[in-house]
Amino acid sequence: MKPTTKKGLALIAMAMLVFTTACGGNGGSNSPANNKGGSSPSATETTVAPDDKKITLGFSQVGAESGWRTANTQSVQDSAKEAGFELKFSDAQQKQENQIKAIRTYIQQKVDVIAFSPVVESGWDTVLKEAKDAGIPVILTDRAVDSTDTSLYETFIGSDFVEEGRRAGTWLVDQFKDATGNVNIVELQGTTGSAPANDRKAGFAEVIASNANLKVIASQTGDFTRAKGKEVMQAFLKAHADIDVLYAHNDDMALGAIQAIEAAGLKPGVDIIIISVDGVKDGFVAASEGKINFIVECNPLLGPQLMQAVRDVVEGKEVPKRIVTEEGVFTSEEAKSELPNRKY
Ligand code: AHR
Repeated sequence: MKPTTKKGLALIAMAMLVFTTACGGNGGSNSPANNKGGSSPSATETTVAPDDKKITLGFSQVGAESGWRTANTQSVQDSAKEAGFELKFSDAQQKQENQIKAIRTYIQQKVDVIAFSPVVESGWDTVLKEAKDAGIPVILTDRAVDSTDTSLYETFIGSDFVEEGRRAGTWLVDQFKDATGNVNIVELQGTTGSAPANDRKAGFAEVIASNANLKVIASQTGDFTRAKGKEVMQAFLKAHADIDVLYAHNDDMALGAIQAIEAAGLKPGVDIIIISVDGVKDGFVAASEGKINFIVECNPLLGPQLMQAVRDVVEGKEVPKRIVTEEGVFTSEEAKSELPNRKY
């Protein structure tokens, strides 16, 4: 059993007070039900006022760089509302210093729990230690940090990005199992230093190493955005006349790259095979049109799991250190039939 947080202790104390008052034989003229006149409120009334019980969650979001992120933000905001939490939300615009500032503000505001999706993996120990010293539990959501001291956070809820990279690589290995010559791959990486960029690259490289014909001839960041994906793909097309495959770390970069490929007079999905990660609606539309050949799903709807973890942490319950999101993969055909059901 983990130590109960400050809020957890307060809730228990309140519950005990209510229990004592209800069972203590003092339910006559001082009980709320009987207090119809204008006299001052009883101790019980002030102690259990609903606002006192409201859990305050400070959430620092990465930014609004992709369709995935928009869906994730919506999920967090909707779920916090549904859970009855007070949500303090900030958008870091893809900058670590903004996230650190936001976390420090939440510490000053004495929120009950801080949650955040770290834009990059490194450089969090100092601020996480500040939160720990202030007795405020931290939950990582979507992306991980590389801190070796895992006591700095309660849990990490999100996808297995290495596995996502492996799934992309496994499909490609299978597609080109009979290839006799080189298969030239270009890679659009996510934000430099971010967990999904590091891990999706590593998982993919690990699996394609089984076939020496599969060669990554260029790999560069497109920062998870459509605009950057287009710009970098234009540069790839200029530098390499013989690109067979594009592996994009998210749908938005793949969609930007598709624009560049079409502008160059080539057919995405045919002249260049495209694999991407996420599975947002726009990605599914492109896949159902045959422009993306394979999508590895990354689920952004983390809000409900996050709110459950927040509640558990506040109540002092044991929370698993790692909560992995379940996800699938989709070929163009599968994306076509799944498209009408896509929620984001
Ligand atoms: O961390 C998840 C990644 O971040 C998503 O794949 C990408 O679209 C987003 O910006």
